[in-house]
Amino acid sequence: MHDPAVLRSMHLARFHAEPSVFVAPGRVNLIGEHTDYAEGFVMPVAINFATLAGISPRTDGKIVIYSENFGEEKTFDAASLPAKGSKDWSDYPVGVAVILAGEGNKIPGFSLSLWGDVPLGSGLSSSAALEVATMLAVTSLIGVTYPGPVLARLCQRVENEFVGANCGIMDQFISANGAKDHALLLDCRDLSFKLAPIPENVALVIANTMVKHAITGGEYTSRRAEVEAACAVIANHRPGVKFLRDATVEDLEKWGAEMTPNSLKRARHVITENTRTVAAAEALIRGDLKELGRLMAEAHWSYSHDFEASCVEADAMVELAQGLPGLIGARLTGGGFGGCTINLVKREHAEAFVEALASLYTERIGIRPQIHICQASGGAHRLEKDVIPASL
Ligand code: GLA
Repeated sequence: MHDPAVLRSMHLARFHAEPSVFVAPGRVNLIGEHTDYAEGFVMPVAINFATLAGISPRTDGKIVIYSENFGEEKTFDAASLPAKGSKDWSDYPVGVAVILAGEGNKIPGFSLSLWGDVPLGSGLSSSAALEVATMLAVTSLIGVTYPGPVLARLCQRVENEFVGANCGIMDQFISANGAKDHALLLDCRDLSFKLAPIPENVALVIANTMVKHAITGGEYTSRRAEVEAACAVIANHRPGVKFLRDATVEDLEKWGAEMTPNSLKRARHVITENTRTVAAAEALIRGDLKELGRLMAEAHWSYSHDFEASCVEADAMVELAQGLPGLIGARLTGGGFGGCTINLVKREHAEAFVEALASLYTERIGIRPQIHICQASGGAHRLEKDVIPASL
């Protein structure tokens, strides 16, 4: 994570006011992909890549936002905020103010400095980290406190209603509610969750294929539409089925012929992925790493073949990892179409694993990947002055 003291001095120099500083992590998902908007299960982990947000009040009614990552400052009028995003980085923080205003909060002028190290476009939820950090900063400024799950829903609405990305709840939820050293099995129907401890001898190795991923692109939306179309076919026969969470593989055997071939495959991924995700959490909780690894591999190939959300590079990264000493499980993580793989690796092999995977991938694909050994971190919170966080 970047140094909060540097963000404080940056903010002070630019805005001549001492900021309150907040941090929100990115995430990696161990298993459960494209299941959140089907009201299913996911198992993400908050990681030690994060966004910092420093905020101080202003008296001129302006909202001035500076991003150190983009090297840009944007100014808005707090009394007349835009109704929709403009496909700019500032959509995320401004969207937070807009959604909060829609909830009946009076939004005052403020200065906001943002600085993050979650790699952009890599499927590690840099946008959720940005929204959640900003949400904590603005709510604290206006003196409102939302419980973590509510805060996550508001941030999801920033994406859905302001930015125009049709995402589910997973990323914002884990950024707001992550727990240090744990994965979280989240039931996206009622937002209840169970913590699954990550054993100390297991390292989270995140390997960036260097292929850009974006959920604002058409593929995410078209997959979601195919999932919903499959659900509608089943609901014609079983009206109790509101989301694929309620459907079974038997439903697909009975009525799959009424679906387009793509819808049938997408639904098969989502239905089997829900079962795998619950089983994976149980395996992690009882320490059955072999079974966890098996489920992760199965999940990857279901994501690749049935959901068709992988790419040559991510398939290669997973295949190459599977041959290396110490691997427990590997799969493409996040929204798909590029981004990162998550590799659970026995800790004593982690460094050698990183080296070997980087050189095998470079040899096969011709691009040098960035590979990080990450920590399972806590969720978003305020950073007190002069306290240097060990991790999050
Ligand atoms: C993106 C979305 C999430 C989720 C994943 C796929 O990260 O933001 O809501 O749908 O893709 O599991």
